[in-house]
Amino acid sequence: MKVMVLAGGPDREREVSLMSGEQVSAALREAGHEVIQRDLSPDDTAALEEFAMWCTESPGPGVVFPIFHGKWGEGGGAQQLLDQRGLPYVGCREAAARLCTDKTKTKQTLLDAGLPTPAFELVNADDQPTLDPPVVVKPNDDGSSIDLAICHDAESLDAAWADLSSRNDVLLVERFVRGKEITVGVIEDETGSPVALPSIHIVPATEFYDYEAKYIRDDTQYHFDTFAPELEAKLGEIAVAAFKTLGCRHLSRIDMFVDEDDQPWVIEVNTLPGFTTHSLLPMGAAKQGTDMPGLVDRLVNLAVN
Ligand code: DAL
Ligand code: MG
Repeated sequence: MKVMVLAGGPDREREVSLMSGEQVSAALREAGHEVIQRDLSPDDTAALEEFAMWCTESPGPGVVFPIFHGKWGEGGGAQQLLDQRGLPYVGCREAAARLCTDKTKTKQTLLDAGLPTPAFELVNADDQPTLDPPVVVKPNDDGSSIDLAICHDAESLDAAWADLSSRNDVLLVERFVRGKEITVGVIEDETGSPVALPSIHIVPATEFYDYEAKYIRDDTQYHFDTFAPELEAKLGEIAVAAFKTLGCRHLSRIDMFVDEDDQPWVIEVNTLPGFTTHSLLPMGAAKQGTDMPGLVDRLVNLAVN
């Protein structure tokens, strides 16, 4: 099949997206597909013009594999344009993409469905948070731990607030969960039913799983089989329930914490999760026996069927 891989673009996770794009393209070629990779400009207007031009290329692609990370490319903008052009594409449709990129709305939707997520508030940069530490402060609509701070006391919260509120109009403040950081990938099977991949327990060598630990350092540890079968099954059930509740399609990765009482908490849902050499959804699929070429092949087949 002729697949157009789209990466880069104006989002703050542009560099991560370019790394994901390289891996996705290589895996698609290995699976026997014809690949056209296009890296979108970091400039918004130019990116939109390029996007419009590539989508009407003749002969066009059979399917588009957008692998953007961030509020535009993962957050509904790219999906809306792909829908308008009637091109089949991998990943969530516009509505779910917009919902999942807005962490506050995601958490409210999960709560309404009875799924566990830590207490939170969305705070304007010129106001002050009311939740008491320990809390996590982060942008409402970015990923890769960019501008994320964990604040264990009032002093560190004041310092983080002064810094982060200078670059972000609003910030999400969330109760910090003490425990294990985990993630569960969800991929649809050949019949379109979402299936959970094995959970991955992330143990960074840094204080938390920050940008360096995610993409640069090689000393982050990833463990499978951390939990007893009953808890592992529960994590899979919560991940699939979150996927369905939020209206996700094809793939997503559900980031969670398991607290010291073995209670799972959903933190966020990534609708176009990383596909870099260090990334987690491909790691979970490999553990289950699906290598990268098999994974991307499954995804493009889901998109055209
Ligand atoms: N936002 C990054 C790419 C991830 O979730 O993997
Ligand atoms: Mg994320």
